[in-house]
Amino acid sequence: MIDTGLDITTEKVAQSGLPKVDFNNIPFGKIYSDHMFVADYDGKQWGDFRIVPFNKLNLSPATSVLHYGQSIFEGLKGFKSQSDDSVLVFRPQANAKRMRESALRMCMPDLPEELFMTGLHRLIDLDRNWVPDVDDASLYIRPFMFATDEYIGLKPSEKYQFIIFTCPVGKYYAAPVKVKVETNYTRASKGGTGYAKTAGNYAAAMYPAKLAQQQGFDQLLWTDGVQHKYIEESGTMNVLFVFNDKLVSIPTSDTILPGITRESVLKIARDWGLTVEERPVEVAEIISGAKDGSLKEMFGAGTAAVITHISHIGLEGETYELPAAETREVSNKILKELKGIQRGEIADTRGWNYKI
Ligand SMILES: Cc1ncc(COP(=O)(O)O)c(C=O)c1O
Repeated sequence: MIDTGLDITTEKVAQSGLPKVDFNNIPFGKIYSDHMFVADYDGKQWGDFRIVPFNKLNLSPATSVLHYGQSIFEGLKGFKSQSDDSVLVFRPQANAKRMRESALRMCMPDLPEELFMTGLHRLIDLDRNWVPDVDDASLYIRPFMFATDEYIGLKPSEKYQFIIFTCPVGKYYAAPVKVKVETNYTRASKGGTGYAKTAGNYAAAMYPAKLAQQQGFDQLLWTDGVQHKYIEESGTMNVLFVFNDKLVSIPTSDTILPGITRESVLKIARDWGLTVEERPVEVAEIISGAKDGSLKEMFGAGTAAVITHISHIGLEGETYELPAAETREVSNKILKELKGIQRGEIADTRGWNYKI
């Protein structure tokens, strides 16, 4: 247990919402746990640390974030341990680090790791009964920070708020997904904000993704913004491939969010002695691999999606089908390992779980 001496006040809910929740039937992201952690940045330092009932925010229409989008967030998960009474949060320090990198890029104040970790620890400790003890379910944790100046002149806000709330969630994708290669719109470009977890990246992706959904796809497979020749990532997932017996991942760059799940998958694969390549992957390579059968597996990796098989690739009116999910040895084995570690069923030899 970390205890940084951070002075956090706690106001508990009068009545918990827990009895109304059916843990065997949880929609993603619609049910919120009782409490949230809040901290304010006054232009000089973080303070007023508090845990309060989950509630609506009261904002001026002139609040800076609503106009200029200084808003960053994280997404991570906590699991009910299957070996003791603890809650296991998967690699929260990695999310704390990424949040600091996002803050720097978006001209927002640094958020010390100890503030992130202490807030998260105390909140989850208090709402620990909200962590589902059901297969494929977990507690999704959403830390975020946004600009709170009441001022519509264009400049970085001086004041900010940091909040963490949580929600019990079930599976994000119920089945393998169909992706469409995007060859017109761009999610991120060199020198831009693609590697930061900032709201605007997601806003810009919505319209192209909606067009793809209207054509029967679940998600877009983004390509580079210059030539639309190289694969980047998909929705809220990094993408990985198995070409024959090699696991291939696209290197992270300033246009790709450096996913913690991706990094964990690569670490597991390397520890197992699998051949792993981190290199650019061309659209042409996956299409020829789908045609000649050398592309054995393709999957997305992300906190919400965990490991999600990609079943079909759409490109300019053609659709290419990949081998059935049940035949995919590498990704299914990695998924089993990852889930086992997260749920405390397999020894956490890499020190990934943070125990509460
Ligand atoms: C754009 C994008 N790429 C990749 C990921 C996967 O990252 P992680 O594994 O850290 O959840 C996410 C989800 O957070 C995302 O939003």
